[in-house]
Amino acid sequence: MTPETYFTRREGGEYAYTIEASKLKFGVGAIHEVGADAKALGMTRVALFTDQRVAKLEHVAHAARSLKGAGLGVEIYDSVEVEPTDRSFMAGAAFARDGKFDGFVSVGGGSVMDTAKAANLYASYPADLLTYVNKPVGEAQPVPGPLMPHIACPTTFGTASECTGMAIFDMLEMEMKTGIAHRELRPSLGILDPTALTTLPAPVVAANAFDVFSHAIESLTARPYTARPAPDAPAARPLLQGANPYSDMACSEAIRLIGANIEHALNAPDDISAREPLMFAGMLAGIGFGNSGCHVPHAMSYAVAGLVRDYRPEGWPDDHAMVPHGISVILNAPAVFRLIGPAAAARHLQAAQAMGADIRNIPEERAGEALAEQVIRLMRVTGMPNGLSEVGYSDADIEALTDRTLPQKRLLDIAPRDISRSDLQQLFKDSMRYW
Ligand SMILES: NC(=O)c1ccc[n+]([C@@H]2O[C@H](COP(=O)([O-])OP(=O)(O)OC[C@H]3O[C@@H](n4cnc5c(N)ncnc54)[C@H](O)[C@@H]3O)[C@@H](O)[C@H]2O)c1
Ligand SMILES: [Fe+2]
Repeated sequence: MTPETYFTRREGGEYAYTIEASKLKFGVGAIHEVGADAKALGMTRVALFTDQRVAKLEHVAHAARSLKGAGLGVEIYDSVEVEPTDRSFMAGAAFARDGKFDGFVSVGGGSVMDTAKAANLYASYPADLLTYVNKPVGEAQPVPGPLMPHIACPTTFGTASECTGMAIFDMLEMEMKTGIAHRELRPSLGILDPTALTTLPAPVVAANAFDVFSHAIESLTARPYTARPAPDAPAARPLLQGANPYSDMACSEAIRLIGANIEHALNAPDDISAREPLMFAGMLAGIGFGNSGCHVPHAMSYAVAGLVRDYRPEGWPDDHAMVPHGISVILNAPAVFRLIGPAAAARHLQAAQAMGADIRNIPEERAGEALAEQVIRLMRVTGMPNGLSEVGYSDADIEALTDRTLPQKRLLDIAPRDISRSDLQQLFKDSMRYW
């Protein structure tokens, strides 16, 4: 199937897609401009969000110095929880509300940027946490209006939270991850300075690379935007629209860049020239999936992360058990590609090729397998756990994992084929061990 036929228009079907992204600034040294940028956005009193480990890095010192140099008041909040929870989101929101700030700067990974988004939202429009949280966990009420300006400065490269209108957290009581998704949550500006990546531990680099791969591959293989019914009104067009030609372009290049640079970046942590393309790839995939959407591996990951018992991975803080996001996603991905491959065969082959596979003699019926093999090869090279069994799960957990994945309808509906309860049960079983 060619890209053109993938987007064939259907009677009564969607006929248009939108391209939305934060304004972005990319380059070595760009962090030093955050003060001037914050001032230009009208900030006078800034809440600088970070976490306890990142707070000790030069990147935060540079940002704080730049903000103060521009004459702005700055208060640092470094209590962000890594892999945030409802509890830590609300703690960040209380700080934001009490401090009477007029702008936010986040310096950190997805955990920090997402917490700053939520803090900005609940300080701007106070409400119970569940008011704006995605259905069926929350009420999914639309954000009432614009938030205060927020400049997101990533120090990781996987989540692309600087590009998206999403904030993800772990709902402790329900043992599952969920989030808030609304275009008003998009930061006003993202400042991507690759120098931040030189201190990133190797396991976090690998997990981020797999998060980028998953965003890009899931976007590329998503149901085409033309498969949805046309909206009743332009404003009803969803944030995540399904695969479209613009996200295809960004995601294909993101897959190629990660594949070409990840191994060298892990072997030579100080070589900024290998980490810079990783950050660029993460940004491209973010612009892509921020408009198209992720599907089954991400939907499954929220259950895998939420039900964690005692897994404490090397490279992350060990104060609580967690399956970090990139790991919780990639452990499901090969099983998913094997199942859904036939529904978007050409796209699975395209992704396998972008990761370095020779696809000349691979028939379409093996497309999902070919992509799964590429992902598994890279999982082994980068020291990923060998499936869900290595992060503490067994077949006895399949029902609970499935129960927590089915509510992720927003994501499951974007898969290129329908996903049933029994599909999910089989996918979790197949994800237990790969080699
Ligand atoms: N908003 C979105 O669109 C989106 C998309 C995907 C994932 N997420 C969420 O983002 C979170 C994961 O974010 P992440 O992968 O960026 O990691 P993270 O923010 O959780 O950070 C991982 C670890 O790396 C440390 N760290 C961060 N930058 C560092 C640096 N430069 N040097 C040394 N250590 C550094 C942190 O202190 C932490 O211990 C999850 O909660 C996930 O669900 C959000
Ligand atoms: Fe992700």
